[in-house]
Amino acid sequence: MSVAARVEALREEIERHNRAYYVLDAPIIPDAEYDRLFRELQELEAAHPELRSADSPTLRVGGAPLPAFGQVRHRVPMLSIRTETDTEASGAEGFDARVRRELGLGEGEPPLEYAAELKFDGLAISLRYEHGLLIQAATRGDGEVGEDVTQNVRTLRQIPLRLRDDGAMRAPVLEVRGEIYLRRDDFERMNQRQRERGEKTFVNPRNAAAGSIRQLDPAIAARRPLSFFAYGLGEVQGWPLPATHGELLEAFVAMGLPVCEHRAVVLGASGLVAFHREIAARRDQLPFDIDGVVYKVNRFELQARLGFVSREPRWAVAHKYPAQEMLTTVEAIEVQVGRTGAITPVARLAPVFVGGVTVTNATLHNFEEVERKDVRVGDTVIVRRAGDVIPEVVAVVAEKRPTRDLFGGEPLHPPVVMPTHCPECGSAIEKPEGEAIARCTGGLYCPAQRKQALLHFAGRRAMDIEGLGDKLVDQLVDGGLVHTAADLYGLTLEQLAGLERMAEKSARNLLAAIDKSRRTTLARFIFALGIRNVGEATAKDLARYFGGLDALLAASEERLQQVPEVGPVVAASLAHFFAQPHNREVIAALRAAGLNWTEGEAAAAVAAPLAGKTFVLTGALPTLSRDEAKDLIESRGGKVAGSVSKKTHYVVAGAEAGSKLVRAQELGVPVLDESQLMELLEQ
Ligand code: IVH
Repeated sequence: MSVAARVEALREEIERHNRAYYVLDAPIIPDAEYDRLFRELQELEAAHPELRSADSPTLRVGGAPLPAFGQVRHRVPMLSIRTETDTEASGAEGFDARVRRELGLGEGEPPLEYAAELKFDGLAISLRYEHGLLIQAATRGDGEVGEDVTQNVRTLRQIPLRLRDDGAMRAPVLEVRGEIYLRRDDFERMNQRQRERGEKTFVNPRNAAAGSIRQLDPAIAARRPLSFFAYGLGEVQGWPLPATHGELLEAFVAMGLPVCEHRAVVLGASGLVAFHREIAARRDQLPFDIDGVVYKVNRFELQARLGFVSREPRWAVAHKYPAQEMLTTVEAIEVQVGRTGAITPVARLAPVFVGGVTVTNATLHNFEEVERKDVRVGDTVIVRRAGDVIPEVVAVVAEKRPTRDLFGGEPLHPPVVMPTHCPECGSAIEKPEGEAIARCTGGLYCPAQRKQALLHFAGRRAMDIEGLGDKLVDQLVDGGLVHTAADLYGLTLEQLAGLERMAEKSARNLLAAIDKSRRTTLARFIFALGIRNVGEATAKDLARYFGGLDALLAASEERLQQVPEVGPVVAASLAHFFAQPHNREVIAALRAAGLNWTEGEAAAAVAAPLAGKTFVLTGALPTLSRDEAKDLIESRGGKVAGSVSKKTHYVVAGAEAGSKLVRAQELGVPVLDESQLMELLEQ
């Protein structure tokens, strides 16, 4: 084989592997083999400069740094799109109505076809292919003139240097437009690496993507794990345009360009609304950030008729979701002491609307995190709230830190340091070597831990004492009326009625609720004890295995480890808890106070009709609450899990069911409504 032929064969093979690895996510050969092919090509090109070519994969590692980026005038300007922030229905309906009016369509005429896709949160890029070869990549800039970032863009393995399709190879010019973005996991990894090297971290994937593409040193860009999705066209010469946007995206796929799979061609406003809703339900599971969806009139001929207003197409609109990240200021940094003594720093914030709710507190996780992010009182911070996740402080906006003088002198507030003693009880705070969490060593001596333990004990899924909330627990503990959970059962009407804001009627109700809780189940009782690492599911496993409390109390650590689903960590927590005389005393006092359950009842549930069946609940059921449905299923021996997988037997869906329902449909898991669930339970 001639050198030229070998070089050509290597290029083809390497690009095939790039595609398998970066686009299809299905690598064919081990990394070491890939590296070997790559080095061979590099050596041949070095020895034979006449064989170098614009589409060689060796260019993907980046060349010498640039003094500055050149300018590129876009022959077809890169426009922006109008943004709607309205509700799911009115945003889509408003757009559909405008388009129909512009096209002169009457009420009676059929619904229009739209292409619906995601609005990626990255950096817009224009890729210029001439006769199928990537010859230039440019940023949007002001829409007319952008920056020439060809060298950096070539380092993205997802972007083909040569289009695979014959038609595209014949086209003198084919400009592909799309978005360069970073997946969240790649972003986390990249920041981790930046930290390890003591370099600046990025606040979000979009900034990181933009910063990477605008790096003058292509070798740096080459190390950044950037991704790309194609979604539109710029200048085109000699390529027959398909009739619709949907077909254009299919053509991109055929050329080897990455196109996001979350796209659809839908009919009318109702189709747009359904797409908006479906993506909203999946937003948190997507591996990358989006800030909304984009609707485009599908037929290019209609797009041409609609045209543009003030640099925005009339045929497209971006429909945004509530922002998941917002700026606000830190008013205070406080410390919370949890049930197990875990010390959590919490930022009190100026109220801010983020992720669909008003947020006034955000967790800072632990003091290592506070130190790393250097969060101080007065700082402007980015707060993130995605899905049901607890709001967190992502980063500080360093430029906005208040200083003692106007000229950027010393910061107004010192760095936050971890307290050495518990703010609640004064006990020492300990942070075991290698662990991120610091804990108050006060145990149940610490009123904060005691209060949390009582709240947990009284919780709905534990002893279910209605009316025993945090204000009341504060009073009971601070007033010295209650030291342990057992003391709750000795409370009198006089004691309760004497408390602040406690009418006699509420006092009576509370006493009745406490009394009612005496009758319980072994599983609830074990869970209510608040043993570290023993959640509801483990408590049930223990109750089922031991059948009675005495057997559990008598079990050695080795015996505990024999319980299915109980590992060494849980067994150690249990053994530690039961070894403490104080805990045994509380348990004895609770039994003396009349707490009772039927021994062996949970063991009987194994034989129940739904034994071995896993359910997932989603959405609001018409009559049953979540907890009631869960209890009913469990009383028949079934299990309720939090997420849908292939192992789920049934999904029970109510109104406004979200991603779990979508997932069930994808996996073919049977979906029940409330009445079907009841039928199953009655069988
Ligand atoms: S189409 C003429 N489609 O949003 C219409 N844009 O404000 C051109 N974007 O700068 C844009 N996802 O960076 C289009 N699926 C998508 C998009 C998208 C993200 C960005 C793009 C553009 C901005 C428009």
